[in-house]
Amino acid sequence: MIKNIYPDKDFSEVSNLGNPINKIVVSRGNTFSQLMIVGEAPGAKEDELGEPFVGRSGKLLDQLLQNAGFDISLDVYFCNVVKCRPPKNRRPTKTEIRENLPWLYQQIKLVNPKIIILVGATALEAILKNKSPISILRGKWINWDGRLVMPVFHPAYLLRNQSNEEGTPMSLTKSDFLKIKEKFNTLK
Ligand code: URA
Repeated sequence: MIKNIYPDKDFSEVSNLGNPINKIVVSRGNTFSQLMIVGEAPGAKEDELGEPFVGRSGKLLDQLLQNAGFDISLDVYFCNVVKCRPPKNRRPTKTEIRENLPWLYQQIKLVNPKIIILVGATALEAILKNKSPISILRGKWINWDGRLVMPVFHPAYLLRNQSNEEGTPMSLTKSDFLKIKEKFNTLK
């Protein structure tokens, strides 16, 4: 089982480009899940609590998953490309992504999910090495390393675009999660 082996350790002495970090954020959810969600990097709340997607974006992500019929504590494993919070929540650099990728690959190997959801452009580029806009690739199933992968809009983007009108990022993402649940139901 993958877990943060230093949950109580104070990492504030560890300077990441002048950015004190509190926690190395590894994962949340079921290690035996068939569905892995990969985000960008921890934010302030994640750094404080030591779990991915526990801030505002995470709450929206949980809601989208639950509305599609997922049981968050049973069906899903959450992690990020980068395991430490970048200074001022900036996007991770190419070097940070490159240095963190071996850990993510190891997580994928150990959890062995059949479906991987790439949340936002950083996860999409890091895994698929594809620079196409997320607006083009979102909602599409892509075969990667024998697994089914789908990019979706990042919930932080959805929080800035909350309209539910047909064709908006929010309504497209809701249908993406229904599509994911439909596929998930065919597994096992
Ligand atoms: N929280 C995370 O853990 N990852 C993100 O990509 C955004 C918020």
